[in-house]
Amino acid sequence: MRILGIETSCDETGVAVYDTDAGLRAHTLFSQIALHAAYGGVVPELASRDHVRKLLPLVRQTLAEAGLAVEDLDGVAYTAGPGLVGALMVGAAAGRALAWSLGIPAIGVHHMEGHLLAPLLESDPPQPPFVALLVSGGHTQLVAVEGVGRYRLLGESLDDAAGEAFDKTAKMMGLPYPGGPELARLAATGRPGAFKFSRPMTDRPGLDFSFSGLKTQVLLAWKASDQSDAVRADIARGFEDAVVDTLAIKCERALVATGMKTLVVAGGVGANLRLRERLDTLAKRLRGRVCFPRPEFCTDNGAMIAFAGALRLQAGQHENEAVTVFPRWDMASLPAV
Ligand code: KG4
Ligand code: ZN
Repeated sequence: MRILGIETSCDETGVAVYDTDAGLRAHTLFSQIALHAAYGGVVPELASRDHVRKLLPLVRQTLAEAGLAVEDLDGVAYTAGPGLVGALMVGAAAGRALAWSLGIPAIGVHHMEGHLLAPLLESDPPQPPFVALLVSGGHTQLVAVEGVGRYRLLGESLDDAAGEAFDKTAKMMGLPYPGGPELARLAATGRPGAFKFSRPMTDRPGLDFSFSGLKTQVLLAWKASDQSDAVRADIARGFEDAVVDTLAIKCERALVATGMKTLVVAGGVGANLRLRERLDTLAKRLRGRVCFPRPEFCTDNGAMIAFAGALRLQAGQHENEAVTVFPRWDMASLPAV
């Protein structure tokens, strides 16, 4: 089956074609960073309008790169949630309309399931059961994955997501949007240990996270400092080390608690180099394995949606013609494949 994937849940328009025999055929992405930069964050209405402008040209470009005509498609997968409602509606309406006009099935994909399955697009993909660490701008979750659609939440953030903490901390110190990658770049030049922040909720049992207090610690340190470039880099390093350490401690706990040997990491923060290094070391020490998507498939993209949709469409799952989106959507409610 050749499945067109459409991602429009936030500030990236992503399109891809996944072939269940040949693998990923093509993928394209348009990032709205320049559009939102002046506002210091994503403006939902502007995001929706830009998805309207970019989606169909990207669909045409992706099909051309795959060497396919629209009639060659066997199904359409689009992100149905969670995300910004207007942005989701653009991809859902376009995906549904295209599928209806072609007489092929369409399916609404859970954005976080897309992230979770993205590591399976790489060579030598991990097989369930595994523990997944989902770290994006909106979610920080540890999930026990028994199979596709068989997800058990082990722990999650009680307040800010890890990516959100990166973004807010960066903004506080005057870094441009999107803050997460900027902060990570700056941290590489900071001195380790110059600022030491706490590892929230690691001093008690459990697999939940909390990152909002860390943000406040950084704010206090930043306000009390001379706010020089060197101090900004040192604080960035201290913050990154605290987040990475906290995530790694909880990943180790989750692996021990479940007895699983494989850790899968996905979502935008999964692109963070220090996190990747730290979890590589952890996996070696535990004689297990850690799997990441390539960095461009950590952040939002159409390939993960095409892939997740393909697995479900291949299993005969699809929905009726109604255009329905879910700004909030519990991943544990998904049917098994
Ligand atoms: O998965 P994603 O693209 O979108 C959501 O579904 O939210 O994740 C975006 C998040 C943002 O918060 C961004 O700051 C963060 O991932 N991020 C990073 C890095 N690259 C992206 N955080 C830390 N280090 C990075 N290298
Ligand atoms: Zn995402």
